Amino acid sequence: MSGNKDTTRTDGMPAAADVYDQRFSVEFDYPVHFTRGVFSPRSDLLERVLNRRGGDRIHKVMVYVDNGVAQASPGTLDAARDYFSSRADRMTLAGSPQVLPGGEAAKDGWENVRRVMTGMGDLRMDRHSFVVGVGGGSMLDMLGLATSLVHRGLRLVRIPTTVLAQCDAGVGVKNGMDAHGMKNFIGTFAPPFAVIDDFDFLRTLSQCDWVGGVAEAFKVAVIKDAAFFGFLCEQALRIRSRDEAVMEKVIRRCAVIHLDHIRGGGDPFEFGSARPLDFGHWSSHRIECMSRHRVAHGQAVAIGLALDSHYAMQMKLITNADFDRIVAGLTGCGLPVWDSCLEERTPDGRLVLLDGLEQFREHLGGQLNVTLPAGIGSKCEVHDMDTGLIERSLAALRTLS
Ligand SMILES: NC(=O)c1ccc[n+]([C@@H]2O[C@H](COP(=O)([O-])OP(=O)(O)OC[C@H]3O[C@@H](n4cnc5c(N)ncnc54)[C@H](O)[C@@H]3O)[C@@H](O)[C@H]2O)c1
Ligand SMILES: [Zn+2]
Repeated sequence: MSGNKDTTRTDGMPAAADVYDQRFSVEFDYPVHFTRGVFSPRSDLLERVLNRRGGDRIHKVMVYVDNGVAQASPGTLDAARDYFSSRADRMTLAGSPQVLPGGEAAKDGWENVRRVMTGMGDLRMDRHSFVVGVGGGSMLDMLGLATSLVHRGLRLVRIPTTVLAQCDAGVGVKNGMDAHGMKNFIGTFAPPFAVIDDFDFLRTLSQCDWVGGVAEAFKVAVIKDAAFFGFLCEQALRIRSRDEAVMEKVIRRCAVIHLDHIRGGGDPFEFGSARPLDFGHWSSHRIECMSRHRVAHGQAVAIGLALDSHYAMQMKLITNADFDRIVAGLTGCGLPVWDSCLEERTPDGRLVLLDGLEQFREHLGGQLNVTLPAGIGSKCEVHDMDTGLIERSLAALRTLS
C-alpha cells in the first residue's frame, strides 16, 4: 500500500500536489465447502462457518429459502429453524426463515431486491449479521445484490441448490438482476463470506435444472481442461441418468476451475475486457431474453457453446472432430444445441440474435472480446465476429438438431 506524498515545503505547509496517487489492495478469502445434510442436527459445518472470524457475540442470522426448494423439500424451513434453536447460545435467527421467489423471475427488476432490503432493515440486521441464502443461481443473484447494498454489505453465506449454482453461479463474486431488457444489467461484485455446496439438495431438481449446470462445466472444460472435457464426454449418459457420484465430481471440478480463474486470472472484478468464463455467453444471454426465459440459462449456454465452437471450427481453431465431440458431449447429457428462436429476424432480415454481440460489447466496456476454443483445453480471444460465418454456423446447428 502506498500514497505518493509530495514533501516539498514552502511556508511550512506541504505544497499542494496536483495529484496524490492513492493505492491499496484488499485481500478477500472465503471457503467453499462440499458436503451433505447441512441442516442435519449432527452437522456442525454451518456453525463453524459462521464462527470463521471468531468473536464472542451471538451471531444474528437470517435464512432465505428459494420457493422451488421450499416446495420440493418442505422440511428445509423447519430443519433450518431447529438447527439454530439447538445452538441458541451461539447463534440466533433474526426472524423465521423466509421463502423468496426462485427462478429467473426472482431477479426481474428491483421489486424483490427492494422487498428483501426493507425486510433486512426491519430486522435490524447490522454489518456483522449473516444472511444465509438457500437456492438457485437466480435467487442467490438477487439476494446477493440486496445483501451487498444493505449497510454496504452484510455477510452472505450461499448454500446453492442447483447444479449450475453449485458449480458456477453460487461460488463466484458476482450477483445481479435483470433490467433494461438485459440480463444482469444491474449488479455488484461482492465476494461471499462462505459457500456451502450441499449435494443432497440436487435430488429434487427437474431434469432441465439437473443437466443445465453441466453446460457451464463444458464451458470451462473446453477452454481450460482437456482431461475434464474427456471425462464429461465419457460420462455423458451417466450424467443424464442422474448418477450422483459422477455429478459430484463434475461439480467439484467445475467449481474449482471457476475459483482458480477468479483467484489466478488476474482480474477477479472484471476491470478488463477479456472474459473467458463468458465463453458461449454473448448469444446465450440473448437467447434467454429472446425466448422470454423459456430457454433456461444452462440450456442457452449449451446452444451458445455449440454456436461458438462451430464458428471456431470454421476459423480452423478447432478440428471437425473436436466440434463433433463437443456436440456429442452436450447432446449426450441431454443439452440442446439449437432453439427455434435463433431464426428470429428483424423486418429488414437481420438476425435478432446479433443484438447480443452489441450488448455484450457494452457490458465489457467498449471493445468486443469473445473467447473461442483454440484446440480442446485452451482458448483465444477475437474482437469481432463475422456475420456470414455466424449465419453458416446457425444453418449447421439447425441441421444437427
Ligand atoms: N452470479 C454469477 O456469477 C452467475 C453465473 C452463472 C449464472 N448466473 C445466473 O444464475 C441464474 C440461473 O441459475 P440456476 O440455473 O441455478 O437456476 P434458477 O435459480 O433459475 O432455478 C431454476 C429453478 O429451480 C428451482 N430450484 C432451485 N433449487 C431447487 C432444488 N434443489 N430442487 C428443486 N427446485 C429447485 C428454482 O426455484 C427455479 O424454479 C441465471 O439468472 C444466471 O444469469 C449467475
Ligand atoms: Zn453462465
